[in-house]
Amino acid sequence: MRAMAFSKTGGPEVLHLVDLPTPTPGPDEILLRVAYAGVNYGEIQHRLGDFGEPEGETVTGLEAAGVVAAVGERAPVGERAAADVSGASAASAAASDVSVGARAAADGSVGERAAADGSVGARATADRSVGARAAAGVSVGDRVASYLPDGGGYAEYVVVPAAFAFPLPDALDLRTGGAAALVLTTAYGVLAGAARLAPGDTVLIHAAAGGVGGVAAQLARALGARAVYGTVSTPEKAAYARAAFGYDEVFVRDGFPAAVTAATSGRGVDVVLDPVGGPTRLASLDVLAPFGRVAVYGEAARHPDLHLRVLPLWKNNRTLTGYNIGDLARRAPETLRTHALNALNLAAEGAVRLDITEEHDLTEAAKAHRLLGEGRNRGKTVLRVDASASPSGGAPSGGV
Ligand SMILES: NC(=O)c1ccc[n+]([C@@H]2O[C@H](COP(=O)([O-])OP(=O)(O)OC[C@H]3O[C@@H](n4cnc5c(N)ncnc54)[C@H](OP(=O)(O)O)[C@@H]3O)[C@@H](O)[C@H]2O)c1
Repeated sequence: MRAMAFSKTGGPEVLHLVDLPTPTPGPDEILLRVAYAGVNYGEIQHRLGDFGEPEGETVTGLEAAGVVAAVGERAPVGERAAADVSGASAASAAASDVSVGARAAADGSVGERAAADGSVGARATADRSVGARAAAGVSVGDRVASYLPDGGGYAEYVVVPAAFAFPLPDALDLRTGGAAALVLTTAYGVLAGAARLAPGDTVLIHAAAGGVGGVAAQLARALGARAVYGTVSTPEKAAYARAAFGYDEVFVRDGFPAAVTAATSGRGVDVVLDPVGGPTRLASLDVLAPFGRVAVYGEAARHPDLHLRVLPLWKNNRTLTGYNIGDLARRAPETLRTHALNALNLAAEGAVRLDITEEHDLTEAAKAHRLLGEGRNRGKTVLRVDASASPSGGAPSGGV
């Protein structure tokens, strides 16, 4: 199969086309024939070596959509039960039960759904039959959007834990699905899980014009936020983000504390979403209203880690919280899946729109990386992996 890989860390030029063996799905895994793959900042960091050195030809790519080409056997029940508590393999154990998401959706309002996540996860873990339904629930030929915890999306085929193969609602095409699985799940998880967004809250989102930022703004409104503000690096991006994602106001990041203070009549905001880090993170703590939360989920500025004093947290009624999808995949895969299904449903209902501004062929991955790595991107960038796939239809066949 064709794939874009790197065997040494470095700039976008280290990405090159390779021919690799098509992988085989193991127990509680599926083989996905990739139609579209999203391009994410995490993949830039992967290529740069932030997550360690590559071992041989390494294929990055954290999200993709396509058609299920093969389904692995189900792990014996005993193995699945053991895997539930064993960290990494819990992802495949927890299983892809659409009805978990459906139960959450049926629980009531969107805000209640978020609050219900814990109990939904607990029910899924406690119910061994969930695993059985899950493995049976994904069939060859199904359209799915997948979060790929081990990468691999920049390839014609990728093996995915069944737990992270999310059925794509009919209203969403494969191109949108390819842009959605990581980004929507992360935005939903940061807001509902890490920041505990409550109806009526005010929210500030850094990197407001990007992939996660753009959908987070819309999800925040869908979850009941009263006002949504953003920060970006340039006035051009601010105008784009306001028009594309419906922010109340978008500020240039330099000097944002004064702008937020003015916009909120001195109160500050209840929630800050911070994927940037460094001085932006420090200043974000200063714009919190009482009991406000700064949710940390990235290091786009690649600034050295902060050493924070704790005293100002209790002196000023502040909370610092974090979100990491990889940790969630290992330790709470049912929660991750519930977040993904809830967010995909909101996108299917039209509450959230993914603004895909760039589409490149798989072989042009370096071009997409250059754009994102230099912070020149807006909205979402995707790679067309299967040249014959139509955005709305499937790949030509589900077979390998
Ligand atoms: N924790 C998790 O589980 C998780 C999961 C997914 C994504 N993330 C994080 O979420 C963030 C957004 O991801 P994304 O894929 O949607 O990317 P993105 O927001 O589309 O692009 C990254 C943005 O970061 C901003 N940025 C700030 N400092 C930068 C710098 N020094 N160089 C380049 N860009 C800089 C730029 O926006 P401005 O021009 O506005 O500065 C840039 O557009 C990333 O930090 C990513 O690592 C975390």
